[in-house]
Amino acid sequence: MHQIRLINTEELFHCHTGNSLLEGMQRLARKGIPVGCRGGGCGICRVQVLSGNYHCKKMSQEHVNETDLKDGIGLACRLYPESDLDVTVLGLKSSKKRL
Ligand code: FES
Repeated sequence: MHQIRLINTEELFHCHTGNSLLEGMQRLARKGIPVGCRGGGCGICRVQVLSGNYHCKKMSQEHVNETDLKDGIGLACRLYPESDLDVTVLGLKSSKKRL
């Protein structure tokens, strides 16, 4: 069980080991992170981890590129906490263009 702190709203919730950050939040009916497809496709749940350890499952490069990954940016529905985390909620990339 890990404690997650959302910096934007100062919300705290606990996430079970093996649950994604988004699942952990939804289990407690919290709403700090926007919820969309829950499958790494829509990018609405984009967050930046400021401290703590985690791993990510496959995510769309459209929403999270190599530079983002180095900056701790990931999709909450594909991000699995391995320790307590401090997280900033980013949401959809504002510069995102669809062709
Ligand atoms: S909810 Fe769609 S990418 Fe996470």
